[in-house]
Amino acid sequence: MTGTADRPARAPDRTPPDPPTGTPRPAPHALNPPAGPSDWASRTALVTGAASGIGRATAVALAAKGVSVAVLDRDAAAARDTVALIQDTTPGRALAAPCDLADIPGLRPCVDGIAEELGALDILVNCAGVVGPRGSLEELTEDAWDTVQTVDLKAPLFLARAVVPHMTAVGHGGRAGVHGGRIVNVSSASAHRALAYSHAYAAAKAGLESLTRTLAGELAPRGINVNAVAPGVTASAIHGTADTEAARAERARTGPTANLFGRPCEPADVAGAIVFLCSPESRQITGQVVHVSAGAIV
Ligand SMILES: NC(=O)c1ccc[n+]([C@@H]2O[C@H](COP(=O)([O-])OP(=O)(O)OC[C@H]3O[C@@H](n4cnc5c(N)ncnc54)[C@H](O)[C@@H]3O)[C@@H](O)[C@H]2O)c1
Repeated sequence: MTGTADRPARAPDRTPPDPPTGTPRPAPHALNPPAGPSDWASRTALVTGAASGIGRATAVALAAKGVSVAVLDRDAAAARDTVALIQDTTPGRALAAPCDLADIPGLRPCVDGIAEELGALDILVNCAGVVGPRGSLEELTEDAWDTVQTVDLKAPLFLARAVVPHMTAVGHGGRAGVHGGRIVNVSSASAHRALAYSHAYAAAKAGLESLTRTLAGELAPRGINVNAVAPGVTASAIHGTADTEAARAERARTGPTANLFGRPCEPADVAGAIVFLCSPESRQITGQVVHVSAGAIV
């Protein structure tokens, strides 16, 4: 057919001719993503720190995909609020798991109870964190150092140790590659800066990124991807009530935590990267740190 003034001629047909009979075509999975969205509904996740901020946004974002989520936090009432939010706004199932991550021996029984309740555990998001008091070298107390190391570094490791047997249990390890286990650790841009007065927090997050690489190497043969996400200034409750919206905007614009866009992240920005690292499409990504900081770290 030829074209008219308002209707251009059709482009030439570029469809390749059929191969001669007997020539093998490439397998469809070589061209297509490894799995479709409906697979999310069979997944189960444990998200720590899910009573607030980035953890809550992550739990809701996973549940919005149909994932069944355990909402772990030391704040039991706020964890139940997250569960209610999930039940009201998403198709995912949720349960509250009140637990203090500073109680290291208590982690395995807590995880075993969650796995029994959900029937499996495919995804662990280590999101809970504390910054501890900021102060000079002389002001830092041993207790403050220990608390931050325990919650931000030690607990993610011992939680992973408790979760991995459930990820690799019969019937789940078999899904490795496309639907293998996923661990995502929430680090911080602070691990990458010369940020004065952040000794314990920056060291714990740098340690968490190192742990991410170690576990990626160790758990790859079991079909588990381990990655980290490093947020920059993000709107949340972590710095207390004195950290107002205006104060965060200022920290995103100027000084040592400034970023290229001059605006803070929202928890949903970080949750989006975490969900991607839990998806089938990220199956070839492991041992990495994804920065969600509007270019604060480049
Ligand atoms: N908000 C930021 O600017 C920012 C920047 C970089 C990294 N991060 C990291 O993001 C993660 C999430 O922080 P957020 O900003 O959403 O803060 P948030 O304070 O809103 O949420 C942290 C959650 O962790 C929980 N938690 C703390 N200690 C716990 C414990 N011992 N046991 C169980 N739960 C505990 C809290 O109850 C809270 O619900 C943290 O690891 C933090 O270090 C935050």
